[in-house]
Amino acid sequence: MQKQMKQILVTGGIGYIGSHTVVELINENFEVVIIDNLSNSRIEVLDGIEKITGKRPLFEQFDLKETSKVEQFFKKYPKIEAIIHFAASKAVGESVERPLTYYRNNLVSLINLLENMITYHVSGFVFSSSCTVYGEPDSLPVTEKAPIKKASSPYGNTKQICEEIIQDSILANRQKLKCISLRYFNPIGAHSSAIIGELPLGVPNNLVPFITQTASGVRKELRIFGNDYHTPDGTCIRDYIHVVDLAKAHVVAIKRLLENKNKSGYEIFNLGTGRGVSVLEIVTSFEKVTGQKLNYRIVERRQGDVEQVFSDTSFANNELGWKAKSNLDETLLSAWNWEKNIRGIK
Ligand code: WQD
Repeated sequence: MQKQMKQILVTGGIGYIGSHTVVELINENFEVVIIDNLSNSRIEVLDGIEKITGKRPLFEQFDLKETSKVEQFFKKYPKIEAIIHFAASKAVGESVERPLTYYRNNLVSLINLLENMITYHVSGFVFSSSCTVYGEPDSLPVTEKAPIKKASSPYGNTKQICEEIIQDSILANRQKLKCISLRYFNPIGAHSSAIIGELPLGVPNNLVPFITQTASGVRKELRIFGNDYHTPDGTCIRDYIHVVDLAKAHVVAIKRLLENKNKSGYEIFNLGTGRGVSVLEIVTSFEKVTGQKLNYRIVERRQGDVEQVFSDTSFANNELGWKAKSNLDETLLSAWNWEKNIRGIK
């Protein structure tokens, strides 16, 4: 008799990291239910997931801020065993212009989920957090024990506050909640099929989609925000991790919770490669691996950018038994293959 598939809720599962995680969950024989309000993603991604995996996840379209709809969802899906929570607003620049939208969206959605988890006895929670909580680290590489710095944007602050809300909720509901917060560094790239990938609506904020859109002719030129930083080539350094490596870490985290292998009610893991790479190194690697010459210009610094941040991955490597496998060249090539696919470039 076939083993009963465990059902996992993925909020924001139509988004960039969410959709790649749904693929990896299905590959590991989980049944997936997605909640997404499609505010920053397209329903065609669901077709892409089905095309890749041969299975179509269950899908509910509503906004997690709608308290009654969240409760109706938990009544409709009593078999949910654990939750991965991606659904949030995440553009740093936009959060500076619209802080209240960010606080309401990111905090109310989380609170609605946690309240219903307690009521409906769902205990496992994987939270999508970010290295932004570290601000400009005092030392590098940055470990999970690094001090939390004052956030440089309302977006980063919502991630810090959400982590605190989760920790307080666990303390008040010890046996009912257990959570793993995954602090991402810079997710880039796309699934090897080039059927799903990063598709920012409008002008991309992030570096790699802007690079691929410049290479495909959608954007005229790439502007590099500053080359007067205290780094070897003067441009900022980040830890760029393949989105599929990141997705696989979420499956490991969910299994850890379902198998009660977590060592405490609240665990935090940095998800990066451990390698710091500059903007100009990304440009050079992209041009080398794709053969595409990039048109770029150095301009003034971008407000809020930290100079350097990259992860110490030893805790995730040793405790989770997970390690990022993709190298930078193949990761950038996967981003370019995705861009060519959506632009119909051979
Ligand atoms: C990387 C580097 C820019 C665009 C943010 C969030 C983080 C996560 C990822 C959500 C920086 C430079 C960029 C461009 C450039 N988001 N750059 N020209 O800011 O490190 O991280 O996105 O989870 O939480 O903080 O990523 O890709 O925007 O920038 O020169 O057109 O590329 O200055 O040095 P960032 P990014």
